[in-house]
Amino acid sequence: MEFADRVAQITPSETVAIIDKVREMEAAGTDVTNFTTGTQAEPRDFVTPEHISEASQAALDDGQTHLAPSKGLPELREALAAKLRDENDVPVESDQVLVTPGTKYALFESVLSFVDPGDEVVVLDPSWVSYNKMVDIADGTVERVSLDDEFLLRNADLDEAVGDSTRLVVLNTPLNATGGVFTREGLERLRDLAVEHDFWVLSDEIYEKLIYEGEHHAIASFDGMAERTITVSGFSKAYSMLGWRIGYLAAPQAFVDEVAKVHSNSVTAVPTFLQHGAIEAVTGPQDHVAEKRAELARRRDIMVERLADAGLDFPKPHSGMYMFIPVDTEDDVQFCKDILDDKQLAFTPGSAFGTPGYVRATWVLPDDELRAGLDAFVDYVA
Ligand SMILES: Cc1ncc(COP(=O)(O)O)c(C=O)c1O
Repeated sequence: MEFADRVAQITPSETVAIIDKVREMEAAGTDVTNFTTGTQAEPRDFVTPEHISEASQAALDDGQTHLAPSKGLPELREALAAKLRDENDVPVESDQVLVTPGTKYALFESVLSFVDPGDEVVVLDPSWVSYNKMVDIADGTVERVSLDDEFLLRNADLDEAVGDSTRLVVLNTPLNATGGVFTREGLERLRDLAVEHDFWVLSDEIYEKLIYEGEHHAIASFDGMAERTITVSGFSKAYSMLGWRIGYLAAPQAFVDEVAKVHSNSVTAVPTFLQHGAIEAVTGPQDHVAEKRAELARRRDIMVERLADAGLDFPKPHSGMYMFIPVDTEDDVQFCKDILDDKQLAFTPGSAFGTPGYVRATWVLPDDELRAGLDAFVDYVA
């Protein structure tokens, strides 16, 4: 039996595959220190703030189990548009916002709606594991471009890599894999190229509220970019709502009208009572976000200090939940297999992000587990 080529050619998400393997080991009674995913640790210490869950619970109790409008509840779309205008200077109206099942699906339906077979899509490595696969599923052509020495956009070799055949560049700042935060200068370079070569940017800003040093710049707020940017984000990270699967996209109206067709023919709508929780997340108290940010920065410091003390050289993460640690081998996939088998330490290989020679590690672990795991890692690589 033959199935679709577009699926045969892709692999499952590397991060999800590693989580599954760790779960299997744990089910078999092996304790694993899981450095692979920050949000996996959520049930252990970051739960969705009560006022958000209560808003969804109240909606359920009120019988809000009917179908929401496909693009999302008007109150939520209005709240998100106001957030984008007020916090990010992105000029959007609520009609330009579409509520999606997770940021991931916002990315996916954007790629499906934008990319024709053969269209060239640039991803900036290290890039989040699913971008290139989404482009593959859409039968687009992935052009991988490395970020600069500091894993930033500023000095990346962009001029060579993009041109009139570029249709779309996938941008992620703050950057998942390294915790980098792109500077205005770097983003302006990208803007200039986008305008010159008339391509669009798909901007994944999910870590926007988890910046420890630096400032977030939404590229859609830059002159000339509102009409060529699809901004996507969601609730998983700042609001600890990973399992809720809720996110959104905001884009020029004509594009939203196209995506809406994919959306209504695939997801129909995001569950109504979940959207009530999301409204509370955007419009309710935000102090828990600051608390989460401070707590994550504290644990980031534990990790960074321990690795620096051991003499390791790495790009210091300024945001999010992850950092890149160089390993002394290009075969980082084998390294991750070996360290998992030998020391029960789970990491994601840098090559899953298009950047071999590194492992990606989170600091979202309880303190004692984090410290013990780091000691074991340092011991292993020493
Ligand atoms: C860079 C990036 N984009 C998107 C996502 C997916 O977010 P969501 O859980 O809202 O689908 C993640 C989650 O791991 C991520 O790290």
